[in-house]
Formats: sequence, structure tokens, C-alpha cells
Amino acid sequence: MTHRDLMRLANGYAESKVLLVANELGLFTAIGEGGKRADSLATACRASREGMDLLLKALAGLGLVRLKAGRYWNTTLGLKYLDGRSPTAMTNLLWLLNHHWSDWTGMARAVRLGRSGWASVTKTAVFRRRFALAMHERSYVLAPLTLARIRLPSGATRLLDVGGGSGAYSIALAQRHPEIRVLLVDQSVEVARRRITKAGLADRVAVRQGDVLTAPLDSGFDLVLLSNLVHDFNEAENRRLLRRVHDALRPGGKITIVEYFLNPAGTLPAEAAVFSLLMYAFTPTGRSYAWNDVEAWLGAAGFGRFRRRLVTDSIGTLEAVRL
Ligand SMILES: C[S@@+](CC[C@H](N)C(=O)[O-])C[C@H]1O[C@@H](n2cnc3c(N)ncnc32)[C@H](O)[C@@H]1O
Repeated sequence: MTHRDLMRLANGYAESKVLLVANELGLFTAIGEGGKRADSLATACRASREGMDLLLKALAGLGLVRLKAGRYWNTTLGLKYLDGRSPTAMTNLLWLLNHHWSDWTGMARAVRLGRSGWASVTKTAVFRRRFALAMHERSYVLAPLTLARIRLPSGATRLLDVGGGSGAYSIALAQRHPEIRVLLVDQSVEVARRRITKAGLADRVAVRQGDVLTAPLDSGFDLVLLSNLVHDFNEAENRRLLRRVHDALRPGGKITIVEYFLNPAGTLPAEAAVFSLLMYAFTPTGRSYAWNDVEAWLGAAGFGRFRRRLVTDSIGTLEAVRL
């Protein structure tokens, strides 16, 4: 790493914040499809004229909007992902990343003094709903790539999506495999219920609200999916969860875990190690784990025949069979 790289890394949050602040103000949505002047955008976003002018110039400098003849326009990328009216908008995901700003602000304290647990705002219905929408915006992009790596046991008809969130994976699995029925269990199911109904899948994808560590999970499933859930828990909780999943599967059934997986030293991929630190501040007990850690827990819970597959450079699927 050079001195220039170091400076760029140290100041990286400033450019990130330009994007997140514009999203928080609803600026990309206010620009929409037509070119707008800075003063009308200040009015639309209830912002000061000077602040809006400088924000727009920073966005234009970063290539996030275009300035032509005194008017600001969304880019093609902005219209697709940043305008809240787009069906592929990631405005809730950017909201969540902006929320994590408070976790990073408290990080030095947390590293010094230890975890502080869930922030009280994360327990509100509004936060949970927006969190689920954010997860949906993240997962629906990754779902096709991930599902291409999931091998259903032959003749599979029953799937369990534990901590299924918005239902992004349940919906994608049900659409891909018309013969299967899915049960999604999560502490918050309002968004999933709505999306499943909208997708016309209410007859094949059921939801159950409950704590995944205590709620009934039923039994006889062919496949259980744990997507982005293991990082919410510590080792003891995960061992307990995997024993419950084992009991929910039929012998020969499969578990697929979708996660940021780390190397044995816990350092790489860097994105997973950084995410792990964020989970230390955001959750009471969560973090990222190494492939071999999770395989050891799976082995102890009665699973074998592990298969690791990469979905992206830092996200993977770990498959195992109930022996
Ligand atoms: C990071 S999200 C992942 C959602 C979804 N599986 C996906 O990949 O898009 C984690 C999910 O686990 C749920 N969750 C976390 N702890 C839980 C618990 N103890 N009981 C039930 N649900 C839980 C959260 O509500 C959230 O929907």
C-alpha cells in the first residue's frame, strides 16, 4: 500500500457520505427523469440552497449526477438504483448503510469497552420493516447467483428458510422450482408476507413469526437455507441453531448456509473481516466465521459431506448433508 492509497482509504468515508446523504434527502428521487436546477431541488428536499448547491457539485464530481446547462440529471445507474421509484432501487439498502454510520462512530468505544448490544432503534417496527426492505434490495440481486450454486436433493419438495427476512430467497427458490413448498421463519415477517403475496406464491410459501432459536421448525424438510443468519449469533447460539436444523431435516436432507466466510486466520477476504467488526458493534453476539469453524459445528451437529462454493469474492455457500 502506498501513502496515496493510505490517504484514500482514510478519507473514503467522505465520498461514501456524499452518496448516503443525497439518498437520505431523497435527492435522486427528486431529480427523477428530468433535469432540475439546484434551487428547485433545495425546495423539493427542504434543504438550504448553499448546502444543496455544494452537495450537487460533489455528486457531479463523483459522477453520481450529471450537470448540463445549469440543470442536474440522474445518470443511467442513478435512474436504475437510486431513484426511489425504480423497481430496482436500493434506497433502503443505502439507508441501512447510513444507519451503520452510528455503529462505526461508536466503534472505538466498543473496541475499548466491549459490545453494547442492539441499539434501541433496531427493535422498533419501523426499523425492522426498513431493514427487511434493505435486505431484500441486497438479496434479490445475489439470489440468482446464489441459487445457481444450491443443489436441491433429488425429489425435493419441502424447504425451510430460517431467518428468511424479506423472502427474497424463498420467493426465488419457489419460482425456480415449481414443485417445492417453502416455510419461512423469522422474527419479523410483515415484508415477506407482502412480497410473497405480490409474487402470487402465498399457496406455496408459508411464513411463521418466531425466534429461530426457540420457535417450532417442524420436521422432514429436504433442504434448509440459512442465509446471512449465522453472523447474527455467537458460537454457542450457532451450535444450538444447527442442532435444531438437523432435527428439522430428513436423513439425507441438506443444509445450505449463505455467508461471508473467512480464512482460518479470520483476516481474508478483507470485506468479510470488516463486516465481522461491524457485526461486533451492530449485534449483541454476531460476527463472521471461517469456513472451517462452521464445518466443525456442522460435524458436531451430525452433518457431513461439506461442499464450499463461492458466490462472489467474499460471499459463499456451505452445503452439508444430514448423515
Ligand atoms: C441479515 S438478515 C438476512 C435475511 C435473509 N435470509 C436474506 O439473506 O436476505 C437476518 C434475518 O434474520 C432474522 N433474525 C435474526 N435473529 C433472529 C432470531 N433470533 N429469530 C428470528 N429471526 C431472526 C432477522 O429478522 C433478519 O430477517
